[in-house]
Amino acid sequence: MKKEINGKTKIIGVIGKNIENSLSPLFHNQIILKHSLNFCYLPFKVTETDLSEAIQGIRALNIRGVNITFPYKEKVIKFLDKVEESARRIGAINTIVNNKGILTGYNTDVIGFKKSLQEDGKFTIKGEKAVILGAGGAARAVVYALLEEGIEEISIFNRTLEKAEKIKLALSPFSPKSRINIFPLEERRLKGKIEESHLLVNTTSLGMPPRVDNTPLPDEKLFHPDLLVYDLIYHPARTLFLRQAERAGAKIINGLPMLVYQGIESFYLWTGLKPEGKEVLEMIKKREGIRIK
Ligand code: ATR
Repeated sequence: MKKEINGKTKIIGVIGKNIENSLSPLFHNQIILKHSLNFCYLPFKVTETDLSEAIQGIRALNIRGVNITFPYKEKVIKFLDKVEESARRIGAINTIVNNKGILTGYNTDVIGFKKSLQEDGKFTIKGEKAVILGAGGAARAVVYALLEEGIEEISIFNRTLEKAEKIKLALSPFSPKSRINIFPLEERRLKGKIEESHLLVNTTSLGMPPRVDNTPLPDEKLFHPDLLVYDLIYHPARTLFLRQAERAGAKIINGLPMLVYQGIESFYLWTGLKPEGKEVLEMIKKREGIRIK
């Protein structure tokens, strides 16, 4: 199969601050090739100062749509014309669709996170307790997904407590039966909360290149074997956080399945075609040699 760019090619892509290691261009373009679509997926590295102009550029250049990644998932909302209902509640988006100059924001991270947990097969969210590290745009989608699935309690630990508080205020009303606790990241109650939980999720950027020696949880004794430890980061495939968890006997999952599942939902919004998630995941693992689980 040969891909030809021509005058009718529709452009899609990803906007982020550090996207050099993004796998999105690779797998979106593979899907495009496989289905012989006249699309092309490009990486757009954008600084925060240029974010507004970059979003204007989507209209100006007639780009069909983009993914939005770290750290712009919340910041970008004010530049859009419309925001889909659940994305508005969440307060973060990861997908923009351009319909004749009208830019609409969506959040496909929620479904991406849920589907990645289903991949695991055995893990059920309902009635469980979870600890979430971080309170940025990605954390908002994770919290919302867990609430929708009937989690009993979520404890959010974040360096900036006010951001965790904002999530609690915004999302608590959608699930009155679930409890949301908030703590500073260094809080001593982290130990007790992790002990009570079966799910621990890192949504912070700690462990991403270039600071791959960083971990949100330096104390390895906090992990236990009954935990499913989830890191939203997929590069490196095994962050220090996941290696610590593995040494403690916990089950681990990295951000690759979520990347794929959110990506194919975004792909569907732009093209009307929904590829098979498992197939895409296997293709990436084969190409990149990413082994996890
Ligand atoms: P995303 O959209 O990917 O979630 P984000 O909104 O910038 O990105 O959120 C990044 C998260 O990583 C935040 O929870 C941030 O903590 P703050 O709310 O205190 O900024 C967390 N984070 C980033 N660098 C950190 C560091 N050095 N120590 C602790 N937390 C950090």
